[in-house]
Amino acid sequence: MLRDKYCGEVNEQDIGATLNIAGWANKWRDHGGVIFIDIRDRNGIVQVVFNPEINADIHALAHRVRSEYVIQVAGEVRKRPEGTVNPSIPTGQIEIVARELKILNECKPLPFMIEDETDASESLRYKHRYLDLRRPVIRKNLVIRHKAVKGIRAYLDSQGFLEIETPMLTKSTPEGARDYLVPSRTNPGHFFALPQSPQLFKQILMVSGMDRYYQIVRCFRDEDLRADRQPEFTQVDMEMSFVNREDVMTITEGMIKKVFKDTINVELSMPFQRLTYHEAMERFGCDKPDLRFSLELRNVSGIVKDSSFKVFLDTLSKGGIVKGINAKGLAGYSRKELDDLTKEVQSFGAKGLAWIKIKNGFESPIAKFFPEQALEALAERLEAKEGDLLLFVADSEKVANDCLSRLRNELAKRLDLVRDGVYAFAWITDFPLFEWNDEEKRYEAMHHPFTSPMEEDMEKFMTVGAIHELPLQNQDAGIASLHAQAYDIVLNGYEIGGGSIRIYKKEVQDRMFQLLNISPEDADAKFGFLLEALEFGAPPHGGIALGLDRLVMIIAGAQSIRDVIAFPKTQKAICPLSNAPSEVGPKQLKELSIRLDIVE
Ligand code: AMO
Ligand code: AMP
Repeated sequence: MLRDKYCGEVNEQDIGATLNIAGWANKWRDHGGVIFIDIRDRNGIVQVVFNPEINADIHALAHRVRSEYVIQVAGEVRKRPEGTVNPSIPTGQIEIVARELKILNECKPLPFMIEDETDASESLRYKHRYLDLRRPVIRKNLVIRHKAVKGIRAYLDSQGFLEIETPMLTKSTPEGARDYLVPSRTNPGHFFALPQSPQLFKQILMVSGMDRYYQIVRCFRDEDLRADRQPEFTQVDMEMSFVNREDVMTITEGMIKKVFKDTINVELSMPFQRLTYHEAMERFGCDKPDLRFSLELRNVSGIVKDSSFKVFLDTLSKGGIVKGINAKGLAGYSRKELDDLTKEVQSFGAKGLAWIKIKNGFESPIAKFFPEQALEALAERLEAKEGDLLLFVADSEKVANDCLSRLRNELAKRLDLVRDGVYAFAWITDFPLFEWNDEEKRYEAMHHPFTSPMEEDMEKFMTVGAIHELPLQNQDAGIASLHAQAYDIVLNGYEIGGGSIRIYKKEVQDRMFQLLNISPEDADAKFGFLLEALEFGAPPHGGIALGLDRLVMIIAGAQSIRDVIAFPKTQKAICPLSNAPSEVGPKQLKELSIRLDIVE
């Protein structure tokens, strides 16, 4: 080795020893002839002193060192002189007095400084990701990720799981996003799809008798990107035989507990809170509520029906709802602040935002439409106190919930309710089996079509009229009332995982496709290999997949999953480092029997 120790590990026990250190010149200072260079490696930095009186040649060479030069130093470790101790870094008590210096490599002027705080643009940082990864904040995230993965493997091994790889060149999987396609050279006109998840294969592994499977696996989804979405991301994917949902949840909780302990030494209290989907929607307006704060929503339709406020009455008469939230203590908001808040909620899709200030009575432009009793009832329903601000959205249930849940997160920020180091987990259970897709005007599986209905709904599931046979308004009693054995795990407002107990009987799976209006021929073409396997002694089974990037992002306190992925893609799904995706030459296209005709 060119070094005896990592820079960050030199300590007071080394005082008096001569050590070799190698790394990058992090910071360079000339203090009246004596040069100080901080050398940095993966584990930290150490200060090296070049004194012309000790070695004039080495001192002269140190003059040539610039930021990020790769250097090797041999020297004696000594206690820092009185007054120069830096208690904020682990090596702050000592320094190395250089006796030898080698410049191993030079470095061009940097496009941005290697510092935790940077104002370099994302595309510049990703173009030079090797420099970006030298920044301690990002490096720290990759260390956390490594520890998380190591802990997961150890835990799942101890629970009898086998790590099994599944194909990357495969067929479309039904997770609801667009596929990334790979043309097949040997089968002109045929394409592989990169897996959106290993869903079908892990179920087949259960039919194979593998009993407990896991994989830390890359998944690919061509969807609109956000801070918590990448086109390729990593799942901790698990499947188990002969289990119910309690078993899957218990195993998952044990794994997450270990990951928090191993990475940031946080002891989580178990078991995690549980909410049904219905309750989550009622109280928080979404199925991934941030439970670090309360700020609950309340349906006030029953109260406002007694008002003469046309906006509310019209909404109710069209089958919509009026829901409210108490912005605690914000009655001091000015007209402009309220207008801005209204605009923000409108940008979420609401038509408007009605407000009532609790300020020596009820102060509001809409108060005049309400009998005193109704105002009192609103205040009571939203647990209002003097100084509070009540905010209401009238719309379809879906829009009202969506807008208010986003407003809820915004208010929590404004009210400074979110504390670092709080981890609010919850299981969301009892999801509807089907969800209405308004764009395509059809019901689809809310999780995926291999999810089992609840046991108690099974009879109804097997007998209710098929979706396409019934008019929409009749569905509430029928298809829309069925519940799935599906569960999501939510942490601090992020969905960090989801899974279900699966259908394992062929006739139930056939029925599912029938209800989804997928013909047997279509089902066979898409998922025939799984359907056939189900006919050869499939055991009851279920599982879950955790989004590893999201979990690590939260543990690391990062704002985006891009900060916990070594080589992420930008918002436009490109990699500025490698410049992928890129055009391909005519030879490659010909081999693939592909002719390009780009339609704009
Ligand atoms: P699901 O589609 O819910 O379930 O995915 C599981 C988890 O993966 C994470 N995730 C993502 N993370 C980053 N970028 C993305 N584009 C992205 N998409 C999803 C989320 C999510 O909760 N086969 C089923 C699991 C099962 O039923 O066992 C599945 O893939 O954290
Ligand atoms: P208008 O009668 O349109 O002037 O609206 C009166 C108040 O009601 C304004 O503060 C609007 O922002 C608010 N408002 C309008 N539509 C809605 C709605 N769908 N839900 C809640 N408030 C609304």
